[in-house]
Amino acid sequence: MGQTSALREWVARQRPGWSLEQPFYTSEEIYDLERRGWLAGQWYLLAHRSEVAESGSFIVREVLGESLIIARDSEGTLRGFYNVCRHRGSRICDADGHAAKGFTCPYHAWSYRLDGTFRAAAALPQGIDTRQLGLQAVPVREMGGMVFASLKGDLRHLEAVQPVLEPGLRYHGIPEARIAARRSYPIHANWKLVMENFLECYHCFPAHPEFCSVMRQAEVIGRVPADGGEAWQREVQTWFKEEADPDSPLSIRPDFPDAYSAGRFPIGKGRKTQSRDGEPVAPLMGRLQRFDGGVSGFRLEPFIYVMASNDHAVMFQILPTGAERTDVILSWLVNASVSAAEVDVERMIWLWDVTTTQDKVIIERNAAGVRSRAYAPGPYSTLESATARLVGRYLQGISAGDSISGHAEQ
Ligand code: FES
Ligand code: FE
Repeated sequence: MGQTSALREWVARQRPGWSLEQPFYTSEEIYDLERRGWLAGQWYLLAHRSEVAESGSFIVREVLGESLIIARDSEGTLRGFYNVCRHRGSRICDADGHAAKGFTCPYHAWSYRLDGTFRAAAALPQGIDTRQLGLQAVPVREMGGMVFASLKGDLRHLEAVQPVLEPGLRYHGIPEARIAARRSYPIHANWKLVMENFLECYHCFPAHPEFCSVMRQAEVIGRVPADGGEAWQREVQTWFKEEADPDSPLSIRPDFPDAYSAGRFPIGKGRKTQSRDGEPVAPLMGRLQRFDGGVSGFRLEPFIYVMASNDHAVMFQILPTGAERTDVILSWLVNASVSAAEVDVERMIWLWDVTTTQDKVIIERNAAGVRSRAYAPGPYSTLESATARLVGRYLQGISAGDSISGHAEQ
C-alpha cells in the first residue's frame, strides 16, 4: 500500500509536457507495479506468423518475465498459455518446436492438447476434475501476419485497431512474408526511455546521419523547417496523387494523433526503398506492381511498429524486461517465395541496423544521466510531441488502472 501511495504522489508531481521524475526510469518497485498492472494490459508483437504457421507448431517467448507458449492448434487457431504446468508448476517447453499431439511436461509427464486443455496424467486420485487443469490461457491474436499477445490485454482493443492496421499489412504481403534477417538490441534502460527516444526525431540530426540522408521526412520532423513543413506537405500530397500506387488501401500517414495508425509517405529524394542508394534490395512485396518509393508505417503504441517499404518490411518488437532493461528486436521481412539469392540482406538491414545501434548508445547514455542525483525532469521540445503524448497516456493509464489502486496482480 505504501508503494502505491508513493506512486500516486509521484504521478501527481509530474508536470505535463516534461520528462518524468527519476523513479519512473529506475525504480524496481514502480516497474513491478507496472508489470503487474498497466504493462500487463498492453499488447506485444511476439512473432511473425511464419514462426508458428502450421498446426502443431509452437513458440516459447517471454513477456514481462513470464514464459509463454504460443501454439497453433489442430483447427489452425492461435492459442497462448503460460508455460507453467498445472501439476506442480514446472516449465513445460524450453524452445520452439512442433508437437502434433500437444505438450508433455518433462517432470511427471502430464500432457496437454494444443488448445491447452488437460489430456492425461498417471495416478491421479479419483474425483479430480481434470477440466479444471488446462493450461492458463493468455490472449493472443493474429492480424495481418503479425502475432500479438498480452498477459491481461483486452481483445476488444485489438478488434478496434484491426480495421486500421490489417488492410495495409495485407496489401504489403506481410502474411505471406518470411523473416530474412533478425537482430536483437538489448538496451540497458527503462522502457520509457526507449519509447521516448523512438517516438521523437529531435535527436535525428545529432544522432542519425544515415537516417537523415535517406529519409526526406527527417528535414521536417527532425528540425523546425523555415517554411513550417509546408513544402514537405506539398511534396507528400503530390507524391500521393502522382506517384503512389492508387490501389493501396492506405492514405497519407496521419500526424500521430492516436495511439494507433497506419499510413504512407514517400521516402523522397528519388529513392525506391530504404537502402543507402535507394535502389531495391529484394523483389516487390504484396500487391505492389511497381516501385512507388513509398514507405508505410503501422503503429500500435506503445510497443508495436512495422515499416513497410516496397520490397521489404521491418518489424519492431519492443519488450520491457526489467526496471532498466528493454529488448528491441528487429526482423526484416521479404516475400516468402523469394529466394535467398534475390535478397541483399546487408543492404536491406543497413538503415535500421545502424539507426537502432545508434539509438541503443544514446538511450543508454540517457539512462546513465537519469541515474544521477543531479537529474531533474526537462521540458519536451515542440519536436517531441508524440513522446509527450505517450508519456501523458502512460500517466493517465497508470492513474486510472489497477497498478496504482492496489488491485495489481499477476
Ligand atoms: Fe508438470 Fe509434474 S510439474 S507433470
Ligand atoms: Fe533514434
